Amino acid sequence: MQTPTDGTGMIYLSRRYRFAASHRLYTQRLSDMENRVLFGKCANPNGHGHNYQLVVTVGGEIDPLTGMVFDLGVLDELVGRRIVERYDHKYLNLDVEDYMNLVPTGENIVRRIWQDLAPALPHGKLKKLLLVETRDNYFECSAEGMPE
Ligand code: NI
Repeated sequence: MQTPTDGTGMIYLSRRYRFAASHRLYTQRLSDMENRVLFGKCANPNGHGHNYQLVVTVGGEIDPLTGMVFDLGVLDELVGRRIVERYDHKYLNLDVEDYMNLVPTGENIVRRIWQDLAPALPHGKLKKLLLVETRDNYFECSAEGMPE
């Protein structure tokens, strides 16, 4: 069987990032009452916050020179600039333009982050994102499920 690589094999590297952000689950396409029924207290008018954790997984063959799959400093700079600095201590609905027309659910946030990071990394490097929103829920997307 063909392996995905023909050299050192596929190795995965994950790194955790953190940001605090608030959001409101609400869509103008529904009435206030419908929003309340659908989203419950998450539709409260003034929003609420989460301490999000974002686990970014990149993968590839080990570079024989450096012994690494990817340079963590480069990853930190990229995720810091494109995500953490833009999201941290923000009200996602209004402060981050990505969510102007998108309900900032965990599903939409993790998908939007994927769309932002995947093209900024070498092709095929981003393998998985995990977005932890609360003690009990987290959202994931991976290369297999996302369009190229
Ligand atoms: Ni929430």
